[in-house]
Amino acid sequence: MTVAKRIDGKAKAADLAESITRETALLQKEHGIKPGLAVVIIGEDPASQVYVRNKKRAAESCGFHSIQHTLADDASQNEVLQLISELNDDDAIHGILVQLPLPRHLDELAITQAIEPTKDVDGFHFINIGKLTAGQTSDAFTPCTPAGCMLMIEDELGGDLSGKNAVVIGRSNIVGKPMASLLLQANATVTVTHSRTKDLPAVVAAADIIVAAVGRPNMVKADWVKPGAIIIDVGINRVGKVIDGEIKMGLTGDVDFDDVCSVAGAVTPVPGGVGPMTITMLMSNTLRSARLSAGLED
Ligand code: GUN
Repeated sequence: MTVAKRIDGKAKAADLAESITRETALLQKEHGIKPGLAVVIIGEDPASQVYVRNKKRAAESCGFHSIQHTLADDASQNEVLQLISELNDDDAIHGILVQLPLPRHLDELAITQAIEPTKDVDGFHFINIGKLTAGQTSDAFTPCTPAGCMLMIEDELGGDLSGKNAVVIGRSNIVGKPMASLLLQANATVTVTHSRTKDLPAVVAAADIIVAAVGRPNMVKADWVKPGAIIIDVGINRVGKVIDGEIKMGLTGDVDFDDVCSVAGAVTPVPGGVGPMTITMLMSNTLRSARLSAGLED
């Protein structure tokens, strides 16, 4: 029985964060610029609070100017748009992120599109989506989760995925669609599957690369997987797990990790895979934005 390699996203993210920290110090020393990241959180979603805290901590550890705006659950659309407008005009801020999901009364599309595309480190603005789709990524921001997945795929297979079949499970705007664009840009043959796909296991069985981003715990099983396939698990599902004989709430992915390990070539764990890479890619986008604003990127 083969045992798949466990892709250590945490270690890779830490290495990347170290080089971002070094480059940040250099940018400040040589050009007097400190990357600035503003994170906006609206309401009290517990998962969002954890994510935002982690983003703030990572920004501080990279040496960024890091600010957080916490708005009440009942903040008005105008209040949010006013804050974004102020951040758009603030020269000390190079990246703006509004944590999703938003309270239901707010218009998510209007809010994400109000962020200046040059500060849109989430890559959600139509300008950035368009540039990514057209393969014009030199001055565009790519959404952090797919960008992190891509780096891990490159580590396993190299940057040219010619002749490889990639199957993306899930068609969200945050992960599935941009992931498909990035894989396509790297010359993979890409299939995007979703809830209306017929015989998903049969489609996945042809994949050399599987990216699972649907939010269904342990959905991808060993008998779906081609021997040697690379599996990237984007799922973060809170489920009851037996830990030390007790049922505790824990995180699990969309992939049945233990099951697929007998067939796959390499798999990302949850936690410790895609999650840490996503946060580090946000730091990378923010540093890049600061450099672009000073005319320093090629
Ligand atoms: N909520 C879950 N993932 C993300 C993300 O990548 N960006 C933002 N802004 N909110 C999220």
